[in-house]
Amino acid sequence: MKILAIETSCDETAIAIIDWSKRTSAIKIMANLISSQIEIHKPFGGVVPNLARREHEKNLVPILLEALKKAKMFNMESGISNLENKKSGPSNSKFQILNSILEREPILLDSFIKNITPITIPKIDAIAVTYGPGLAPALWVGLNFAKALSFVWKKPLIPVNHMEGHIFSALLKEKHKPRRHQLKINSGVGAPTETSELQTIKFPAIALLVSGGHTEIILINKLGVYKIIGETIDDASGEAFDKVARILELPYPGGPEISKLASLPPSKYLLPRSLPRPMLHSKDFNFSFSGLKTAVLYLVRDLTKAKIDLTEEVKSAIAKEFQDAVVEVLVSKTIDAANTYKVKSLILGGGVAANVLLREELGKKLKKEIKSAKLYLPNTTQTGDNALMIALAAAVTGKKKTSGKILVKSNLRL
Ligand code: KG4
Ligand code: ZN
Repeated sequence: MKILAIETSCDETAIAIIDWSKRTSAIKIMANLISSQIEIHKPFGGVVPNLARREHEKNLVPILLEALKKAKMFNMESGISNLENKKSGPSNSKFQILNSILEREPILLDSFIKNITPITIPKIDAIAVTYGPGLAPALWVGLNFAKALSFVWKKPLIPVNHMEGHIFSALLKEKHKPRRHQLKINSGVGAPTETSELQTIKFPAIALLVSGGHTEIILINKLGVYKIIGETIDDASGEAFDKVARILELPYPGGPEISKLASLPPSKYLLPRSLPRPMLHSKDFNFSFSGLKTAVLYLVRDLTKAKIDLTEEVKSAIAKEFQDAVVEVLVSKTIDAANTYKVKSLILGGGVAANVLLREELGKKLKKEIKSAKLYLPNTTQTGDNALMIALAAAVTGKKKTSGKILVKSNLRL
C-alpha cells in the first residue's frame, strides 16, 4: 500500500511517501521531507499560529512536488489538467469544487491550480493527513490541501491523530534521516529509496508521549487501541522547557537549549536551593509542570535580588536542576505505570524524546525494575514532528474515508 502523508499541526510542514507491505512489515521510504519554520517563529519566542498557517500555505505545493520527484512519481500530463475533461475541456463544476475546498487558502489554491492539476495522478492508494491535535489554523491548511488532492486525484483520505504518529516513530527499525527541505523545487530528483521495517512489539505496552503540547502516559493493548492513564494537569513538559528557556533568556525552542546548557561540565556554582519534583508521590500517573516553571522564575528573581549575574555557569546549574526535576518525575511515573500494568514494552515519543537524559534514565530504570520489558526509543532524527510517522500510523491502523466530513480537532485525544 502506497501512502502519501501530510503533517502541518504546528511549525513543520512535512510530506512523506511510503510503500508499506502488511505481510512483511517492510517499509520503503520513498520521500520524507520536512520544512521547519523555527527561524520564522524565533523572534516571537514561540509558534505564532497565523504565521504557521501562512508558511504551510506557501510551502505545501513545493514540498509535494519535491516529494513526488523523490518518489519518482512526478509526471506531467501532456497539457491536460486533472480538472479538464479530455473531450469537453475545462470542467467548471470541478473548478468550483476545488475553489470551495481551498476557499480559505487563496495562495494555496492558486499554486495548486498552476502546479498540481497538470501533473499525472501518482500511483498511491491513499492520502493520510493529521487532523489533530495541534494549532487549528495550521491543521486546517494541511487538511484542506489533503481534501483538494483527494478530490483531484480521486484517492481516499486517512485522518490521523498526531499523537498516534509519535508512537509509531519509536517503532521504526532502521536509522532514517528525514531530509530538511530547502524549497528548491528542481533539486534532488530521484534520490535513492530507503527501506526500513516496523518492529513488532509485545503487549501490554505503555507509551510516554512528551511534546510541546502534550505529556501523557498511554496504555496500549493493541496498536490502534489507546487509553490515556495519566496526563499533565497544566503545562506540557516541552512547554515547561520552552518557558524556562525564556526565563533564562534562551532562544525558542527551549528544550535543546536547556539540555545543551545542562550538559556543560559541572560548575563550581551551587544553587541556593533545589527545585520541586511536582506530583512525584501523588498516587496517580498525572503530571504538573507549571509550578516547577514558577519555581525557576522565583529562583531567578531571588538570584537577581542577591546581585548574582546570570552567567553561563549559573544558567547551566539552573538548567541541570530543572532538567533533573522534569526527568525524575517523568521516569518515576512511567516506571510506576509500567509496573502497575505489567507491561512488556515501553515506548517513548514526542519532541522531548530527543532529551538524552530522559532516554538514558528511562532505559536504566526500566532495566533495573522490569528486566523483561523492552524499550522503544525513536531515532533522534524522528522525535520532532514529521510526516513519516503519520504515514506509518495510517498504514497500520488508519481507516480510509471516501465520504463524510472530516473536521480539524485541535484538542483531539488518543
Ligand atoms: O513533538 P514536537 O516536535 O512538537 C509538538 O507536537 O509539540 O515537540 C516540540 C517540543 C518543544 O517544546 C521542544 O522544546 C521540545 O519538544 N524539545 C526538547 C528537546 N528537543 C525538543 N525538550 C527537551 N529536550 C530536548 N532535547
Ligand atoms: Zn508533535
